[in-house]
Amino acid sequence: MAKKLKVGVIGLGSMGSTHLDIYSQIGEVEVVAIADPKKSRLDGSNRAEGNIRGQAQGSVTRLEAKKYLDGMDLIDDPDIELVDICVGTNLHFVFVEAALAKGKHVLVEKPLARTYDEAKRIVALALNSSTNIMSAMCLRYWPAWVWLKKLIKNKEYGECLSLTCKRQTSHPPGTFYSSDDECGGAILDLHIHDTDFINYCFGMPRAVFSQGYKGPSGGIDHVATHYIYDQSQNAPLVTAEGTWTMQEGYGFNMSYTANFEKATACYLLDDEETLTLFRSGYEPELINLDEGMGYEFEIRSFVDDILSNKKININLLKQAAESVAIIEAEMVSIKSCSVVVLGVES
Ligand SMILES: NC(=O)c1ccc[n+]([C@@H]2O[C@H](COP(=O)([O-])OP(=O)(O)OC[C@H]3O[C@@H](n4cnc5c(N)ncnc54)[C@H](O)[C@@H]3O)[C@@H](O)[C@H]2O)c1
Repeated sequence: MAKKLKVGVIGLGSMGSTHLDIYSQIGEVEVVAIADPKKSRLDGSNRAEGNIRGQAQGSVTRLEAKKYLDGMDLIDDPDIELVDICVGTNLHFVFVEAALAKGKHVLVEKPLARTYDEAKRIVALALNSSTNIMSAMCLRYWPAWVWLKKLIKNKEYGECLSLTCKRQTSHPPGTFYSSDDECGGAILDLHIHDTDFINYCFGMPRAVFSQGYKGPSGGIDHVATHYIYDQSQNAPLVTAEGTWTMQEGYGFNMSYTANFEKATACYLLDDEETLTLFRSGYEPELINLDEGMGYEFEIRSFVDDILSNKKININLLKQAAESVAIIEAEMVSIKSCSVVVLGVES
């Protein structure tokens, strides 16, 4: 039997248990260690919840794995080849730095880091590392978004004239989401999914104009942004709105409307998931999507790269760092109520 990739998961909250669920379905992987300072998370008596159906399904109770109260001890464990970092965003940098220094492969939850400065330092460390690192920007792997990226690129229905993205929910529970210092508010934690997807499809915008307000995290918890591309080159009109200020019980939804020269695509995930393509002269077409959430395709792809000794594309990591820079520009725009021009050094 082929040797399995040995994984250690740090942080057993909603994302840690989502990742555990996915690893349990990948035959080539073995979770050999888990870490969390909360004993109740290590023994499974306190299970985290997700905000989307299908999240946080992993369980530690049937897992034969070493248990650490400190994630740094897991990183020191010589058995572990891949360190999966699912702690709060404020801790991403220190754990990534330590894991790369120990020669581990690293999967780190999004956003890449709490600040652009830390994100840039991660990219610099990755450039000098012989192991692979991936920022878990899951929309890049989510079937409905993969489908959209392909249409934007191959222009099957002409140029993309406009893209509007939206994600809305009520405030997630837990101390991490109640601290702007730790999570960065919905603007960094939630809305970055759309910002990063826009960056991934169209590149860095020339400028942003954002409006928003503070909410329960103490940071910007509702934001709406225009991503300004150079209109003289037929650039698309791109906007995104993200919030976790909805009242309790509201649930979660994410959506996009992409208008092409010859088609309009409308996607909505709430209790159901639908993607409809509208074309003049045709009946609306329901698009069949691959089953599954972005998390599983993302993790499978990273594991496959490691097992086949494929080096990661560093540009994808740089782009995840740039997305943090865009978010910081959006924060400046909200504060100054002005258009903020982006100038990210390479
Ligand atoms: N990709 C996505 O769609 C998605 C969704 C939700 C959250 N996230 C990201 O995942 C990360 C974690 O979010 P979450 O919702 O799982 O948070 P969470 O608060 O539910 O879980 C974090 C866990 O980390 C543990 N922890 C804290 N300090 C630790 C340490 N020193 N060593 C080991 N464990 C430690 C906590 O006890 C907690 O169990 C955040 O960066 C968040 O932005 C991504």
